[in-house]
Amino acid sequence: MAFIADSLDRIKPSPTISISNKVFELKAEGRDIIGLSAGEPDFDTPDNIKEAAIAAIRRGETKYTALDGIPELKRAIAAKFKRDNGLDYEPAQISVGTGGKQVLFNALMATINPGDEVIIPAPYWVSYPDIVLLAGGTPVFVEARPEDGLKLTPGALSAAITEKTKWVIFNSPSNPSGAAYTEDEIRGLTDVLRGHPNVWVLSDDIYEHLVYDDFRFTTPAQVAPALFDRTLTLNGVSKAYCMTGWRIGYAGGPEVLIKAMAKLQSQSTSNPSSISQWAAVEALDGPQDFIAANNKAFKERRDLVVGMLNQTPGLTCASPEGAFYVYPSCAGTISRRAPSGKVIRSDEDFVVELLSAEGVAAVHGAAFGMSPFFRVSYATSTELLTEACRRIQRFCNALD
Ligand SMILES: Cc1ncc(COP(=O)(O)O)c(C=O)c1O
Repeated sequence: MAFIADSLDRIKPSPTISISNKVFELKAEGRDIIGLSAGEPDFDTPDNIKEAAIAAIRRGETKYTALDGIPELKRAIAAKFKRDNGLDYEPAQISVGTGGKQVLFNALMATINPGDEVIIPAPYWVSYPDIVLLAGGTPVFVEARPEDGLKLTPGALSAAITEKTKWVIFNSPSNPSGAAYTEDEIRGLTDVLRGHPNVWVLSDDIYEHLVYDDFRFTTPAQVAPALFDRTLTLNGVSKAYCMTGWRIGYAGGPEVLIKAMAKLQSQSTSNPSSISQWAAVEALDGPQDFIAANNKAFKERRDLVVGMLNQTPGLTCASPEGAFYVYPSCAGTISRRAPSGKVIRSDEDFVVELLSAEGVAAVHGAAFGMSPFFRVSYATSTELLTEACRRIQRFCNALD
C-alpha cells in the first residue's frame, strides 16, 4: 500500500515555484541568471505598512485572533470593497486567509463534490486546476484565443456550461497574460451566467490595481448585481501592496460560503498571522498613492519588454492591460535548432534552451494551459529587463 495519498497523484508541484527554485539553485552555483519567472513585485512593502506591523508586535497583537479575520481588518476590507468596487459586503460576508491562495483553496475545497465541473479559461494561473483536482472536481478548460485578446468570449463560456458546472473562475487582469476585461466584456459573460442560476462565479481580482493606460477595472459582482449572491470576489494585499511574504488574502461572498470556508480553515491553519493582519489594515486604510507611482514604472517596463520582444525573430507579443506579465508567442521558434544542437519542439524546450544558453528564466506556456507561448514577468528593474530582452534576442537570432 502506498504511503503517500492517491489524491496527490492528481496534482503536480506549482511549476512557477519550481522554476523560481531552479533560479535560486543556478544563482547559488554562481551562474549569471536573470529571473523573469517571479510572480511578485520587486518593490519593497511601503514603510507605513511595516511600521503598523511593528506597532502591532509592540502592542502585543501576537496571539491567536478571530478565525477568519480580526474585526478591524474585515471593516477595512468592507470599506475597500465599497470604495473601489461599489460592493456592499458585511463583515459576516468576508473571509481572510493566509494569502489569496488559501482563500481560493478554502472556497473550492468547501464546495466541490466529485464530478463537479469548474470552468477555467486558458491560459490560467497554475493553481486553479490543481486545487480543483485535489478537491475531486473536474477542470474544464476553455481557450481564450489570441485573436480575442486572450479573453474568454460569451459564446465559448456558454458552450462550456453543463449541468455539472459548479464554478466559473474569472481572473482579470490575468496571470499569465496580463489581459484585463472591460466592463462590456464582463457584461457579455455575466449575461450568459444570468441564464444559469446554479453556476457560481469566482472572480480573482488580485491584480485589480495593476492596470495601465487609464484602463478602468470592474468586477463581475459590480457589473451584474444579479450575480452578487453567487459570486465570490477574491482579492489580497500581495501584489498591489508589495506584500507577498506577509500572506494575507481575502474574499467577499455569500455568508453560507464564507461560513463553510471558515469551518475548513478552523481545522487547518486557523487565523492568518496576527501581525500581518494589522499590516493589511494599514495597507487598505492608509495612503494609496504609491500604487500609481509603482504602476508608472510597471507600464514603462511593459512597453520596453513588449517593444523589444516584438523586434525579436520568432516572437510576437501583445501589449496587455494589466498585471506585470506579458505572454509572447514563440510559435516562430518551433522546429528551429538551439545553440546546444537541440531542436525546439515546444515552449518548454524554448524556455529550457533559453535558460541554458543565455541564463534567462521564463515560464513555458504549457504550464498555464496554452502553447506555444511563454510568460515573462516584468516585475524587475529596467536594466535587468533590457539585458534579459537583449539575451532573448541573441538567443532567437542564433536559432538555426
Ligand atoms: C492569479 C493569482 N491569484 C491568486 C494569487 C495568490 O496570491 P497570494 O496567495 O500571494 O495572495 C496569485 C499569486 O501568484 C495569482 O497570480
